[in-house]
Amino acid sequence: MLTQDAPVRIRPKGEADAAACLELLLRVHATDGYPMHLTAGEVPGFFTPEHEAAAWVAERDGAVVGHVALHTPPEDPTLELARDATGLPLERLALLARLFVAPELRRSGLGRVLLRHAAGQAPGLGRRAVLDVGQALRAAVALYEAEGWRRVGELHLPLDDETMLDLWVYVSPES
Ligand SMILES: CC(C)(COP(=O)(O)OP(=O)(O)OC[C@H]1O[C@@H](n2cnc3c(N)ncnc32)[C@H](O)[C@@H]1OP(=O)(O)O)[C@@H](O)C(=O)NCCC(=O)NCCS
Repeated sequence: MLTQDAPVRIRPKGEADAAACLELLLRVHATDGYPMHLTAGEVPGFFTPEHEAAAWVAERDGAVVGHVALHTPPEDPTLELARDATGLPLERLALLARLFVAPELRRSGLGRVLLRHAAGQAPGLGRRAVLDVGQALRAAVALYEAEGWRRVGELHLPLDDETMLDLWVYVSPES
C-alpha cells in the first residue's frame, strides 16, 4: 500500500544516483541513527559499496526516496552465522544491506516493497538473502518479522574498547 500521490518506481541504482543516495542516507542517519555508532562524517565511507553485487533505488517525482542492496563479501560474520543456520555455503548467500526509506514516506509500504524486491532478486544471483540488523532499530526489526524473515542468531561485534554493535541475524523466508 503506497498511499502517496506520485507513483514510486524501483529501478537499478546507477552511478549518477550516488550523491542523492548519500544525501538521503544522511537524512536517515540524522532521523534514525542508522547507520549506528557512526558520525555523519563516517557515513560516506559506510555507504561506499565494497562488495555490492546489486542495488536498487526507489524514485518518486525524480527524487531518490529509498535504497536497498545485495552484498556478497567473501567472508563476513553474518554470512557465517547464516551459513550454519541454513546449511548453505557462503557463495549461495547474499547480504541484504543498506535498506532505508525517506523519513517522510514511512509506513506507506515502501520498505516492504524494497525488501521483497531485493530478496526476490537474490535467487537470480544463485543466492538466498540474509541480513543483520542493529537490535535497537525497532522499525527495521518489526519489518523483517512482519515479512516472515527468521531470526537465526545474534552477533556482538566490538567497534572499539567501549562500544559494541549488537545485531540480530535473519534469513529470508524459503521460496
Ligand atoms: C526500516 C524501514 C526501511 C521501514 O520502511 P517503511 O517504508 O516505513 O516500512 P513499511 O511501511 O514497508 O512497513 C511494513 C511493515 O513493517 C512494520 N513496521 C515498519 N515500521 C514500523 C515501525 N516504526 N513500528 C512498528 N512496525 C513497523 C509493520 O508491520 C509495517 O506494516 P504496517 O504499516 O501495515 O503495520 C524504515 O523505517 C527506515 O528506513 N529506517 C531507518 C533505516 C534502517 O533502520 N534500516 C534498516 C537497516 S538493517
